Amino acid sequence: MEQPAPSDPAASDPAASDPAASDPAASDPPTARLRPVLARLPDYTPGRPAAAPAGVAAYKLSSNENPYGPLPSVLAAVADAATQLNRYPDMSVSVLTQRLAQALGVPPQCLAFGTGSVAVLAQVVAAACDSGDEVVFAWRSFEAYPIVTRLAGAEPVMVGLDERGRHRLDAMAAAITERTRVVLVCTPNNPTGPAVHRDELRRFLDRCPDEILVVLDEAYVEFVRDPEAVAGLDVWREHPNVVLLRTFSKAYGLAGLRVGYAVAHPSVAAALRKTATPFGVSSLAQAAAVASLDAVQELQERVAAIVAERERVAVALADQGWTLPRSDANFVWFPLGPESGRFAAACEAAGLVVRRYGDDGVRVTIGEPAANAALVEVAERFGPCLVRGDPARHTASEYLERGGRG
Ligand SMILES: Cc1ncc(COP(=O)(O)O)c(C=O)c1O
Repeated sequence: MEQPAPSDPAASDPAASDPAASDPAASDPPTARLRPVLARLPDYTPGRPAAAPAGVAAYKLSSNENPYGPLPSVLAAVADAATQLNRYPDMSVSVLTQRLAQALGVPPQCLAFGTGSVAVLAQVVAAACDSGDEVVFAWRSFEAYPIVTRLAGAEPVMVGLDERGRHRLDAMAAAITERTRVVLVCTPNNPTGPAVHRDELRRFLDRCPDEILVVLDEAYVEFVRDPEAVAGLDVWREHPNVVLLRTFSKAYGLAGLRVGYAVAHPSVAAALRKTATPFGVSSLAQAAAVASLDAVQELQERVAAIVAERERVAVALADQGWTLPRSDANFVWFPLGPESGRFAAACEAAGLVVRRYGDDGVRVTIGEPAANAALVEVAERFGPCLVRGDPARHTASEYLERGGRG
């Protein structure tokens, strides 16, 4: 289809190109009273799709997705489940609950599901927080944290990471007040990469009152190789206030189907089922997740290949002189400060769509080997950049004041 010329009014006025946009129903006067908090909420920014200059292969390295397509056995299970699309899904997610409980060695009543772990996170905050309560988390971390917190009417309390992109758990313990209901610990941390260590989490839990839910967001747990990293299930067994958040989106490669879960003690898990959207986890998602558990060996081999690529990239970058935080996830973090825009542009010119976080840094997903090789080449041409100063200098409140941009 022909693209409108830049001078074409349709290029700047959506109403000119889309007849539905000139429909009076598309320009309603703002009569509905919506919650004022919405105006202060950052939009969740999804990773942009792959795009490249002509003649250059394009790779999407902006959403921490798994580069491998679905396994044939998973596709077959989804096709089979699709024959029942006229029916609602099993609301109690019973088959997946049984299979996963077995795989993890936890009682089935300790599992609760949602449409991706981001939805389960919202279920946790909705279950624990009343208006004005506080949710403590590190910053930068997963960008959904302030959004989910504010949507629940709660207040984010964001504690800057240290200069290696790690949680400062002592400072997080010190940030707890009588209004704190939830603490979110992202391990490994998105976007910086390091996993939280066993001993630092133990110290934190010793200081944290038992009535506060401590959520370990383990979205990338399958990629962790740091021997000192916390083992969420062990911690969960010892602490009734600990909740694990996990997902089929990353290691299992099912981001498009939306299924995540919590491992929580029975009363908490029951609360998470109450705050879930009924029938949220589709029958296709349930079937794909069960088929993935059946194929766990193959999927673990894929994870091992991604980890090997991550290590290869880490060594190549270190050889070039880069000093980056250790990543135990499926991405690497370049804390480039004001050079972030230039580096993201250099990546894009090489066909790599990456994720820039304002003037804090750039996160690049480990993707196909050719994409990773292209990243190493871009980094070599760019030259190692040392950023001095505090990587958390862009504080949470500034971030929220900017409407969550950057
Ligand atoms: C740390 C972290 N937690 C949770 C999620 C949400 O994943 P999903 O909703 O796909 O399970 C993500 C996604 O990028 C993430 O990075």
